Amino acid sequence: MLQDTLSVKVTRSENSRIGQVDWENLQFGRVFSDHMLVMDYKDGVWQQPEILPFANLSLHPATSAIHYGQSIFEGLKAYRQDNGDVIIFRPDMNAKRFEESCERMCMPVVPNDLFVELIRKAVEVDSNWIPDKEGYSLYIRPFLFATDGFVGIRPSETYKFIVFTCPVGQYYNDPVKVKIEEYYTRAAVGGVGRAKTAGNYGASLFPARKGQLQGFDQLVWTDALEHKYIEESGTMNIVFVIDGVLVTPSEDSDTILRGITKRSVLEIARSWGVPIEERKVSVQEIVDAHKNGSLQDAFGAGTAATVAQIVKIGYRDEVLELPAIETRHLSNKIKEHLNGIKSGTVKDDYGWCLKV
Ligand code: PLP
Ligand code: COI
Repeated sequence: MLQDTLSVKVTRSENSRIGQVDWENLQFGRVFSDHMLVMDYKDGVWQQPEILPFANLSLHPATSAIHYGQSIFEGLKAYRQDNGDVIIFRPDMNAKRFEESCERMCMPVVPNDLFVELIRKAVEVDSNWIPDKEGYSLYIRPFLFATDGFVGIRPSETYKFIVFTCPVGQYYNDPVKVKIEEYYTRAAVGGVGRAKTAGNYGASLFPARKGQLQGFDQLVWTDALEHKYIEESGTMNIVFVIDGVLVTPSEDSDTILRGITKRSVLEIARSWGVPIEERKVSVQEIVDAHKNGSLQDAFGAGTAATVAQIVKIGYRDEVLELPAIETRHLSNKIKEHLNGIKSGTVKDDYGWCLKV
């Protein structure tokens, strides 16, 4: 059973794979650091967490996460700053969102402080895997899934919490092309759109594939009821700049993932006095703004995607071409500022960086 003072048993890998990494050609999500942190839940309590050499898992064929989808995850990043310090960007926010996902999916909550401390330990043990090249980082993937070997629909009684890490570069190498989706649905009111649960991503694959076959990188989801209002993209929240105003779908409904990158973007922009409107954003408004020339910028915000500028928006039979990237003064400036906070070249006035 978990003690008050956290002790994590560490079994170090005897054969580090770090020498085999092709650092010049890092592909997102394909390279895994040497260790993983594992913490089981059983008999109503979290068990002692352990750091182990990264390895395959052995699972019961009836593992309930596989059959019934009790599976949630997070994504956050650690950076090596210019002075050598290692920081994790806003892990407290991921802890809170993880808690909300746990609750929505009927899973035991990992207490926020414990979540952050375990992430810190997982990063610490593999800190030599953090690339120190600009634009590179250590992607951290905490996840929780139901492990009961049981056939039947009820919440599992046992779970596994795991954290692994991956050295990564860019998720999108180029500005992105998105398509406004008006038939398929990501999330409906009352559903699980706000939770970072595996099924949301599984369900998006087929529509996203259709969009990719038409030349788009990602879909922009619209509301399930009328397909009239913009919600978010597949891996990022979405922000527009219309006539100097940052306009973004509000997260009041439970259909949109509450993104930490977008929250950070808005906090930075607000501190500069940029007008911000978090509200319903209709597809028609964006199409009209493009037509009358007031749509100055559109970008996605996400941990993996960072600030990803959008160059084309597919809408029905049209493709809206957006202004050249050099003219995107606001998103370029926000991107630079956010990157600066993470790399330590810009003062972290917000206290967003947790030192490892
Ligand atoms: N929306 C979806 C569906 C996502 O998968 C992500 C990525 O985590 C985001 C938005 C952006 O969230 P965050 O900035 O917290 O990474
Ligand atoms: C993230 O940005 O962390 C995501 O979850 C996007 C994707 C890698 C699933």
